[in-house]
Amino acid sequence: MAQPAALPPGVLSLHVLPAEHHDKDWDAIIVPAGVKERLLSQALLQLRHGRRLSTLAGLPHGLIVLAGPPGTGKTTLGRGLAQVAALALAKDGATTFVEINPHAFPSDMLGESQRNIMRLMQDTIPELAARRPHTVVLVDEVESFAVRRSSASFETNPVDVHRATDAVMLGIDAIARNHPSVLFVTTTNFIGAIDEAFLSRADLVMHFALPDAATIAQILHDSLAELAIHWPGLRPMLEKREQFAAIAALCDGWNGRQVRKLLLAGLAQRLEVAKNPALLTFEDLREAARKRGGVEWVGAAAPSSRELFPDVPKEMMHDHDHGHDHGHVHAKTRRK
Ligand SMILES: Nc1ncnc2c1ncn2[C@@H]1O[C@H](COP(=O)(O)OP(=O)(O)O)[C@@H](O)[C@H]1O
Ligand SMILES: [Mg+2]
Repeated sequence: MAQPAALPPGVLSLHVLPAEHHDKDWDAIIVPAGVKERLLSQALLQLRHGRRLSTLAGLPHGLIVLAGPPGTGKTTLGRGLAQVAALALAKDGATTFVEINPHAFPSDMLGESQRNIMRLMQDTIPELAARRPHTVVLVDEVESFAVRRSSASFETNPVDVHRATDAVMLGIDAIARNHPSVLFVTTTNFIGAIDEAFLSRADLVMHFALPDAATIAQILHDSLAELAIHWPGLRPMLEKREQFAAIAALCDGWNGRQVRKLLLAGLAQRLEVAKNPALLTFEDLREAARKRGGVEWVGAAAPSSRELFPDVPKEMMHDHDHGHDHGHVHAKTRRK
């Protein structure tokens, strides 16, 4: 098998879009229709007309900020946006999708982070942008990147934080001027930590909210439908809309990630269901929701391992394991 080409420093992943298997991110996030249309329109405006718009006095920066509490779908929708925009633009050519790893630029590395950001902005992104007519750059958790200069902690070197943030800003300005069909999609869980000068460059700051009861019910329904592909015995549950609404009412204030995990917790309420998920009931989901996905520290003592699993035949029991010496295990595998 060929070795995959090494990614440029700071780049988490690189894709050419549109691609098969990239549709599900956009579809997974349940938000009002207007939200997705506004986001897609902003992206298409930049990617399709960026060159002409860059002659305007108030030139676009090709910067979208998705802000809001953790687990509200920002990263997923950012990825999905790249695919859907690429689908819309496919006739005009492909789209390069770049995911930046902001943790590759720790701001406490004296001088180093600034140099790395400059390299990313001045070399890496322009080189990538030259490859295809459209480029989408996802900078996840941008707050670790464009730290607000007035609030940078004293433990980090304030001068260095300044320089790193300035480097981001200079980079965005230069790319907006020279590569107007590059779109930056950035996410943040904590907009208060982001530099004002960075935010003021954004063409769209979209605030994500926690899902309301109807959305929670829809997320639960969606998640169960996915599960029912593997365990068709669950399909009849999908018709009981009122049951989803009742469970959603128990999940007030939860984020989308917690709601998706509720299904997993529901499957893990009872051993029979964990062994055979087709046995899941709404009662399991209600129980899981009532316990907020966790456990209650009450009840009788738990059965012993052999009380739980008395019937594992002797021939399935191994004499001894290989301990934690990985070298030993590998040596054994190699000898085969
Ligand atoms: N509004 C939503 N609708 C459906 N699923 C959601 C929603 N919000 C979050 N999720 C789910 O929660 C998980 C985390 O989403 P993610 O995009 O990582 O959130 P964030 O980046 O805001 O922390 C994903 O599995 C996603 O599908
Ligand atoms: Mg995220």
